[in-house]
Amino acid sequence: MKDTAPQTIYLKDYTPFGFVVESVHLTFDLAPNATRVHSRIAFAPNPEASDRRFFLHGEDLKLIGASIDGTPVTPDVTDKGLTCTVPDGPFLWECEVEIDPQGNTALEGLYMSNGMYCTQCEAEGFRKITYYPDRPDVMSVFTVEIRGPQPVLLSNGNPRELGDGHAVWHDPWPKPAYLFALVAGELLVQSDRFTTCSGKEVELNLYVRPGDEGKCDFGMEALKKSMKWDEEVYGREYDLDVFNIVAVDDFNAGAMENKGLNIFNSAAVLASPETATDANFERIEAIIAHEYFHNWTGNRITCRDWFQLCLKEGLTVYRDSQFTSDLRSAPVKRISDVIDFRARQFPEDQGPLAHPVRPESFQEINNFYTATVYEKGAEVIGMLKRLVGDRAYAEALDLYFARHDGQACTIEDWLRVFEDVTGRDLAQFKRWYSQAGTPRLAVRDDWNDGTYTLHFTQTLAPSAATADPQPQVIPISVGLLGPDGDEVLATRTLEMTEATQSFAFEGLDARPTPSILRAFSAPVVLERDSDTAERAFLLAHDTDPFNRWEAGRALARDTMMSMATTGAPAGSAYLDGMLAVLRDDDLDPAYRALMLAQPSQSELATALAEAGSTPDPDAIWQAGETLALALAQHAQDVLPRILAECRVDGPYRPDPDQTSKRALGARALALVTRLDGGAQAAAQYAAADNMTLQLSSLGCLLTAGKGDEQVAAFYEQWQDDRLVIDKWFGMQIAGAAPARAAAIAADLTGHPDFNWKNPNRFRATLGALAMNHAGFHAADGSGYRLLADWLIRLDPVNPMTTARMCSAFQTWRRYDSARQSLIGAELDRIAATPGLSPDTTEMMSRIRGAK
Ligand code: TRP
Ligand code: ZN
Repeated sequence: MKDTAPQTIYLKDYTPFGFVVESVHLTFDLAPNATRVHSRIAFAPNPEASDRRFFLHGEDLKLIGASIDGTPVTPDVTDKGLTCTVPDGPFLWECEVEIDPQGNTALEGLYMSNGMYCTQCEAEGFRKITYYPDRPDVMSVFTVEIRGPQPVLLSNGNPRELGDGHAVWHDPWPKPAYLFALVAGELLVQSDRFTTCSGKEVELNLYVRPGDEGKCDFGMEALKKSMKWDEEVYGREYDLDVFNIVAVDDFNAGAMENKGLNIFNSAAVLASPETATDANFERIEAIIAHEYFHNWTGNRITCRDWFQLCLKEGLTVYRDSQFTSDLRSAPVKRISDVIDFRARQFPEDQGPLAHPVRPESFQEINNFYTATVYEKGAEVIGMLKRLVGDRAYAEALDLYFARHDGQACTIEDWLRVFEDVTGRDLAQFKRWYSQAGTPRLAVRDDWNDGTYTLHFTQTLAPSAATADPQPQVIPISVGLLGPDGDEVLATRTLEMTEATQSFAFEGLDARPTPSILRAFSAPVVLERDSDTAERAFLLAHDTDPFNRWEAGRALARDTMMSMATTGAPAGSAYLDGMLAVLRDDDLDPAYRALMLAQPSQSELATALAEAGSTPDPDAIWQAGETLALALAQHAQDVLPRILAECRVDGPYRPDPDQTSKRALGARALALVTRLDGGAQAAAQYAAADNMTLQLSSLGCLLTAGKGDEQVAAFYEQWQDDRLVIDKWFGMQIAGAAPARAAAIAADLTGHPDFNWKNPNRFRATLGALAMNHAGFHAADGSGYRLLADWLIRLDPVNPMTTARMCSAFQTWRRYDSARQSLIGAELDRIAATPGLSPDTTEMMSRIRGAK
C-alpha cells in the first residue's frame, strides 16, 4: 500500500531520462518472505537529455546495499525511490534489495499465487522488484538468473542455462521494465512447435498447475493460429526461440504480454468442453491472440510514456478483432463488439470518468486501463482505416514497423506514418485522441426532384476533460434502399469534417430509405427521428448486416422504453419483426441469437437518461420480463422447431458452426422457459454434457425462479474446479430476481469458498451484483451497501482491483434523488476510509466530482 498523497502527472511535462541503460543483469534468490534481488545495471549519460539527476523508482523494497563501479554508496531513499550522486560518464550500478512476495496481496511486482512465484509489472510494478528507471522509454537488454528449488524457473527471452535449482535467461530484444517477467513453481508443461514463415523453429510451452493439464489444447491451437495470422496479414514473424505462456490463478487482469513469457489469468487460457462455455472459448482465443500480437504492437514498438497507452492497446485490440472476424463471423463479431462498447465505453465517455483516448493527466495509471483507451482506441484505428482505405492502411503499418522497430513511440509517430503514406493532414482527425466524450450525430433528410439529401450536425458536450470541443472527422458509412427494399446506393463512406454538413445523392427514382452509420463506422450516437415503420423496413431489408441488427435493436429499445415509462404493451412491430428473423433460416443462427437478445437493462437506463427521463430500474426490469413473455407467446409455434434445429449431435467442438447453433438454442430455450416454467430447461440440464448447455439451461431455471436443486448439484459436481465455481457464484447473482440479488450476493460472500482476495472470485460475486441492474439499484440501497463494504475491505489488500470496480458507481447521477443520496452516502463512506489507496482515492474524487 502506498501512503503518500496522490500526485498528478501531466503529458506536457514529459522529459527523457538522463541516462541510457546499456544492460541489466538480475539475480533472484527466491524465498517466500525474503527474496533477494541483486541488480547490475550499466548506465551511461543520455545524449538526448539535459537533466542528469539520477532517480530510480523503488517501492516496498528493503535496500541491503548499493555500489557504483564497485565502491559502496549510500543513496537517499524515500518510499518512492532513491537518488544518488553518480559519475559524469558511464558507470556500473549494483544494488541488492529484499522483497516479500508472500506478503504481496496487491498482485503487482513479484508475488505468490498458490505457491508459485509470478510477476505483473505493467504499468509500474517493476519498481516493487528493484530500484530502476521504471518508465517505458527506458529500454534495455535483460539477463536474468534465478535460484530456487522450483523445477520450473522462467524469465523473458531464450534460456541460456537450465540447471537444478538454477536458470539463466537472456532476452536479446531491448525492452522496458514493464515487460519483465519471472515465474517459478512446480508446473506441468504442454509443448508444441511452430515453424515461422522464414523457416525458424519456435518451441511453444504452456505451463499450468498440476490438475490443469487437460485444459491446454485449445489455448495452444489459438496460439498457433495467432502466429500464422500475424505473418499472413501483418507480415510479422516471431523473434525468439521459445514462446512461453503461464496460467496463474491470482491475476488482476486478463493476461500480460511480457516478452516471450506471457502470463495469463487461468480463466483467460484454460478450457475444456466440460468446464468452459462457448463464450469462454471465444474469449480465450481472442486474448491469446491479443497478447501474442503485442509482441510487435507493444513490445518491439512500445510506448514512450503511459499517456500513449492507446498506441499499443488500441492497435492490439483492433488487430485481435480483425483476427476474430477472420476466423469466425465478421458481422457477429462486429455486433458483439458494439453491444459491449455501448455497455462499457458509452457510460464512461458520458459520465464523470470521461477522458480522452490519450489522457493528458493522471494520478494512478492503473485507473486508465479503460474501455476508452482500449476499445475507443481500437475504434479510432478502424475509422482511420476506413478513411485512408485498406491499401494505404497496409502501407502505413509496414512503414510503422520499419521506421519505429525498437523504439518507444507516441501517437504523433503513429499518425505521421499515415500522413507520409497518404499525403493527408491528420491534424483534425487527431481530435479523436484528445477530446473526451461521445459525439452526437443528428441527421435529417429531404427529397427534392430526384435529389435526396442527408443533413448532419455533430455536437460534443463540453466536459471537465474537454472544455471547448471542436468538430471531429466522422466517417459515416451510408447505403440507400429503394421502396421495395433493393439497394439503390451501395455502401459509401461520407467524410464529415464540419459541425454541420450535407450530402446530396442525385438521380434517384423515388425517395429512398437511408441506412446510416453502417457497421457502426464511427463511435457516435446517431440521432434520427425514425419511426417504427422505417425501423421495421430496415429490419426486413437492410443489406448491411450490422444496420439490420441495429434496426431490430432500436425497435426493442423503443418498445421497452415506452413500456418502462408509460406501461404500454409490447410493440407489435418488434414482435412481428423478431418472428420473421427467427423464421429466416438463411440467417446465421448466431446472428439470429444476437437479434433476439434484449438490450441490457443498463443500456436502457442510458437511453432513458439521454431522452431526458430518470430511469426506474424496477420498471425497466419489469418491461424486460413482460417483453420476453410477449415474444415467447408470439413465437410459440416456431420455438420447438428452432430448438430441434439447434441441437448439436456428435462431440463438442467450440467452432463457429456449433457455437452458433448453441447460441440460438439458448435464446429459444429462454423463451420456451417463459411458457413451460422450466420443464425443458430442466431436461436439458439433466442431459447436458458440456458447460455451455449446462450453464444456459441453469440460467433459464434461475430466471424462472427455479433451479435450487440444480444449483446444489452443480456445486457438488464442480467444487474442485475453481474456474467453474466462479461461474457458480456469478450465475446465482446474475440470475436472481432484483429483490433478492443483494441478499443472495451477501449470503455467497459468507460461503467458505468465497476467497475474496482472489480477483476472479471477488469479481464473480460483487461484479455480478453490479451487473444485475435492478438488483444492484434495489431501492433500499442494499446493493450499494454490500458493494461498498467489500470495496472498503479489499482496498488495502488489492487497490488495483478495488479501484477498477468503483466504476460500478459511475452512472449514479442519472438515477432518482433517493438513489443518488444512497449512493452518495456510500461514496462518501468509501472516500472517508482511513488509509484509502491512491488508486481508489482518485476514482472516488473523479466519480463524486471535484469538490
Ligand atoms: N497489457 C495487458 C493487456 O492489455 C493488460 C494488463 C495486464 C494490465 N495486467 C495488467 C494492466 C495489470 C494493468 C495492470 O494485454
Ligand atoms: Zn493489451
